[in-house]
Amino acid sequence: MIMTRRIFVASSLAAPAVLTGATRSWAEVEKILASGNVKGKLSKDDLPTPSLLLDLDLFEANVQKMAAHAKARGRALRPHAKTHKCSELAKYLMSQGAVGACSAKISEAEALAAGGVTGLLVTGSLAGRHRIERGIALAAKRPETIFVVDNTQNAQDLNDAAAAAKQKINVAIDLLVGRRTGITPGEPALGLARAVMQMKNLKLAGIQAYSGFSAHVQGFEKRRATSTEWMGQAVATRWLFEKDGIPCPWLSGGSTGTYNIDSEIDGVTELQPGSYVFMDQGYGSIGSSTGTDKYSDFAHSLTVVASVYSKPSDDIAVVDAGLKAFATDSGGTPESVSHPGVPYAWAGDEHGRLDLKKAPRAINLGDRVEFTVTHCDPTVNLYDRIFCHRGGQVEKIWRINARGMSQ
Ligand SMILES: Cc1ncc(COP(=O)(O)O)c(C=O)c1O
Repeated sequence: MIMTRRIFVASSLAAPAVLTGATRSWAEVEKILASGNVKGKLSKDDLPTPSLLLDLDLFEANVQKMAAHAKARGRALRPHAKTHKCSELAKYLMSQGAVGACSAKISEAEALAAGGVTGLLVTGSLAGRHRIERGIALAAKRPETIFVVDNTQNAQDLNDAAAAAKQKINVAIDLLVGRRTGITPGEPALGLARAVMQMKNLKLAGIQAYSGFSAHVQGFEKRRATSTEWMGQAVATRWLFEKDGIPCPWLSGGSTGTYNIDSEIDGVTELQPGSYVFMDQGYGSIGSSTGTDKYSDFAHSLTVVASVYSKPSDDIAVVDAGLKAFATDSGGTPESVSHPGVPYAWAGDEHGRLDLKKAPRAINLGDRVEFTVTHCDPTVNLYDRIFCHRGGQVEKIWRINARGMSQ
């Protein structure tokens, strides 16, 4: 059909306006966002898409649950900030009982410290000249920071740099409990601890034993057996140090998947879980201690909100969130919480495709669709800020100030 001007005008008038959701103009939203004073002024439907959202009610419940668990079991809690990369969030966790924060790398620790976080444990080694220099500089500002070593030469290099700077550096022996970094538990670790004890500018804080290998083992009993085996080796190493006359008052480990397993092992003094604050789909299906396949100890407080910006056919809606909006490493696809059961498929850097064939209700151009994420840590690293809301009303914005700090 050739569209005459009259038909065009009539058909565009007949179409519903695509203004779904937003309660304010973009100019108003921009002004409010720039002011930083958002409480009571913005609905999550006013936010640009895709955006990262945090449901404060669910998040706070997650935080309380872990804090109460650690307290009841007499363990310190030093949550891992690699999950959220946000000084404000780390400080909130400390206001709720955490003793500090873990950081994965030195640059992440620097950003957290610049944002006012204290009690840092840098869980990745300081191998290499620049990492050592940065570690020494951080320790000058935050002397309580703990660094890890798993190699005698690296410990010696760190000691020499600390001596040159006239500083004393806290170090923990990083143990290989599973497969990743660290020195083998038992005699090899004891050899390193003895060497560290001889180094005048290093102070041995204890042991770090993160068994990431155990965290996602499917089924609680299997997970318990795996983590107990590996953490058992860590604890045995702690007692070996003590027997050798090396004080070892502190052993940090654990994850979201094993927090209630490792907290039952005598000799583990501190838990360092990360993902529990947000949760992701990867953790959602590891099975819980109640015997269910689902892992519902913590709620999915983190979501990405996208919006439909093309409808190529009645059966397909294209949202503005693709590979740049979600981490893709876990193999799964984001699940919609606003439109449960509507399948999402990757459709490019900026695009995701919704299959509407079985959609229980209509999804139109401009509609907002909210998703849980397959893997929270690398998803958060894609965003500059988290919009924190309560019941859909934005309460505050947290800057993800360690975003991209993977050096
Ligand atoms: C050293 C270390 N500790 C703790 C954690 C926290 O684990 P999760 O996010 O599974 O709770 C991680 C995560 O990768 C880690 O690398």
